[in-house]
Amino acid sequence: MKIQEKHYHTIWIDEDDPTIVQVIDQRKLPFVFETFAMYSADDAFFAIKEMVVRGAPLIGVTAAYGMYLATRHLKNENWEEDLTQVAKYLKSSRPTAVNLAFAVDEMLVFILAHKEDKELEAKVLAKVGELKKQEIDFGDQIGEHGLEIIEAIYKKKRTTVNVLTHCNAGWLACIDWGTATAPIYKAHLKGIPVHVWVDETRPRNQGARLTAYELGEQGVPHTVIPDNAGGHLMQHALVDVVIVGSDRTTVTGDVANKIGTYLKALAAHDNNVPFYVALPSSTFDWEMNDGVKEIPIEQRDGNEVAAIEGWHDDQIKKVRLVPEKSMVANYGFDVTPARLVSGLISERGICKANKESILKLYPEKNNR
Ligand code: MRU
Repeated sequence: MKIQEKHYHTIWIDEDDPTIVQVIDQRKLPFVFETFAMYSADDAFFAIKEMVVRGAPLIGVTAAYGMYLATRHLKNENWEEDLTQVAKYLKSSRPTAVNLAFAVDEMLVFILAHKEDKELEAKVLAKVGELKKQEIDFGDQIGEHGLEIIEAIYKKKRTTVNVLTHCNAGWLACIDWGTATAPIYKAHLKGIPVHVWVDETRPRNQGARLTAYELGEQGVPHTVIPDNAGGHLMQHALVDVVIVGSDRTTVTGDVANKIGTYLKALAAHDNNVPFYVALPSSTFDWEMNDGVKEIPIEQRDGNEVAAIEGWHDDQIKKVRLVPEKSMVANYGFDVTPARLVSGLISERGICKANKESILKLYPEKNNR
């Protein structure tokens, strides 16, 4: 999508040097636009762990590029063993988004299956390209399916459709389009008046910093709100629909997403506001049945809660908010039980958040 009228993806091979993978450095947005160059699997690990890149689909594709970079550097006799270790290492960078393990495992199987190939590097790069293209297509298709929901609301209402979203499930979290934002962009492009309530999303403020930024760059009207405002807006009929993304959704429809999503789902339920989750199939965990009990929830550095980052004197600066003696906790995600989810918007269509409906869309996963 666009940044200052120029079309970008979030990750790409350097134009001059195919041994370098470039990403947009999301730690610096919206204040400074900079790219971050990855030369090795270690760089990919760092980029994911330190949130240079973030968002489930982008984490997955970045790790796949990490496997490509590893393949380039592993030349010794035991390289298969080493690559398996690299795969484990990359998977340990962030625990909640299942896209990461999915992409790394797919790359490992592919690389080992082609290990005798003289053109291995080129083949691996082409494979990563396929995964990247697939995520772009998924976003595009999620957008088309989700558009139907926004269109239906607009047909009834005949005035601006108000969507509430949490965190950043936009194109910056993916490669292009986004998941939760894809239907919004499609509606905007179609001329349907749409306005987005953007949860600021403490502690890292992905909503205030990233979602607001990307919506602004595409010209979509939006308003940033504190995380606690959604319930009030819903009580006053100021939200027509909630659309969020997901980091992992169980085959039974429980949804892990950025911390605070669950509270939005509760408020939506209490106010009869439809609550949709937009996700590509790479975000489903086909093995898990109970999201609350089974999905690993990342706990991050308490400094993200104790301090806040902003732009001051032409620099990104951190200021402390919490007394030095206080303890802080920083759970990165929570799980919204399937019963609170009105529907899942995937690249194959919209389904109910239950095993039967999900497997109807993905019958090939039904043999488990
Ligand atoms: O911690 P983050 O910024 O990686 O969390 C991102 C989210 O929770 C997104 O909502 C989720 O990954 C969906 S991305 C399309």
